Amino acid sequence: SSNLNTTAKSIKLLWGLIKSGWQADGRGPSIWDTFSHETGRVFGDQNGDVACKSYELWEEDLRSILQLGLTHYRLSVSWARLLPDGTTQHVNHKGVQYYNKVIDDLLNARVTPMITLYHFDLPQALQDRGGWKSPNIATLFDSYARFCFQTFGDRVKLWITVNEPYVCAKLGHEDAIHAPGLKEPGRAAYVVGHNMLRAHASAWHSYDAFFRPKQKGLVSLAINSDWLEPLDPDCAEDISATERHLAFTLGWFAWPVTFIDTNSRKHGYSSESRLPFFSKDEPPILGTADFFALNYYTSRKVTSCSGHSDILSMKSDRGAQEVLDPSWPISGVSWLAVVPHGLRRLLSYIKKNFSDPAIYITENGFAQVGSLEMEDVQRVTFYKETISEVAKAITEDGVNVRGYFAWSLMDNFEWADGYSVRFGLFHVDFSDEKRKRTMYHSGREYAKLILKYKWGSSLICPKQL
Ligand code: FCB
Repeated sequence: SSNLNTTAKSIKLLWGLIKSGWQADGRGPSIWDTFSHETGRVFGDQNGDVACKSYELWEEDLRSILQLGLTHYRLSVSWARLLPDGTTQHVNHKGVQYYNKVIDDLLNARVTPMITLYHFDLPQALQDRGGWKSPNIATLFDSYARFCFQTFGDRVKLWITVNEPYVCAKLGHEDAIHAPGLKEPGRAAYVVGHNMLRAHASAWHSYDAFFRPKQKGLVSLAINSDWLEPLDPDCAEDISATERHLAFTLGWFAWPVTFIDTNSRKHGYSSESRLPFFSKDEPPILGTADFFALNYYTSRKVTSCSGHSDILSMKSDRGAQEVLDPSWPISGVSWLAVVPHGLRRLLSYIKKNFSDPAIYITENGFAQVGSLEMEDVQRVTFYKETISEVAKAITEDGVNVRGYFAWSLMDNFEWADGYSVRFGLFHVDFSDEKRKRTMYHSGREYAKLILKYKWGSSLICPKQL
């Protein structure tokens, strides 16, 4: 029987105490602190200085986790809380203490933690040294990862190095809508994605050589991808545009990219490719995922749109245009068309194209915008339908899905959308000093779903993967 452990995760514990501000207890600033304090970057000029107060209110979070009956909890640690200037020269022991408590409390409550090391929030001190565009970042990330494996790896067995490298690269360095807010289309995102792969691979090799023999855990990176299908399934151009688009998002991090050089030549980059090359002197990238970690939210139809842009960008390089199917309902946020069957198709695609890997769905969720609905029936339908599609992928398509994490445990600071978009299974009252958490109707239904889909009662065991 298959193991589908239905779980939820929270926003990482990004920011600190209300009075002492986000630098409480020795935490350093991150690029999201800088970005969100600039005018016009985030909806309503909101920021994450206080957010859900998870640093203060961890016990409340634990209570919510237990109320849902989760078996697993994915959380992201803040690099700048552990290493305020990004390097191991200076360790913030209060930060270590805090995460130790979180991990111990979870384990005592029989909840298995999955830890993400990097979720969009580079220490500002490292951004000041070139950030993800600088080749040196791979070594710095490796030191941070080793520090975490060394400090927490006796108890944590499931690791994600980098969350959504595509989003960091493109939204942060090409579109300027995420931190660090750079707009350098057609080049920077490729360099950043490349360095994220190098950083991930270095950390994986460190784990493999120095920690795995004793700790026996698993390491991967979380790749986001929409499900994409040709607008006209009989049109060869649409079919190849869809393949190109999938290669640019999923494939970029799951296999080597091969589509960009032709376009470089057209734009006069003949002697120098815009794509950085991996060095033979560095540890190989291939084979550095112990499982496939997938973040899925939505789907698109794709049509070909080659050769009409004068501006070099990832979009012009990929030569594929996204189209929304009018029959797909839109959730609160405009980008999130609700397509549960897209996840089943994407899972089959991954099974077929990536040698039937063990897959964790590390994120999936539904957003509310506008007037608050505690009886959030649409989100209930969303989770029921989506998880039932995952069930079909397992039982009918034979996909090796090992776990499902809902995004997210509670409403939180949703990046450039601030607090205007609510993804939680728990509502958070951001006007309340205590940030009161209240379970949505969807939380109650999610708790029932977890029980219904307990196909394998055992926790995910690394050795089985
Ligand atoms: C993912 C991010 C997560 C949240 C959800 C809605 O891309 O990893 O932090 O923003 O989308």
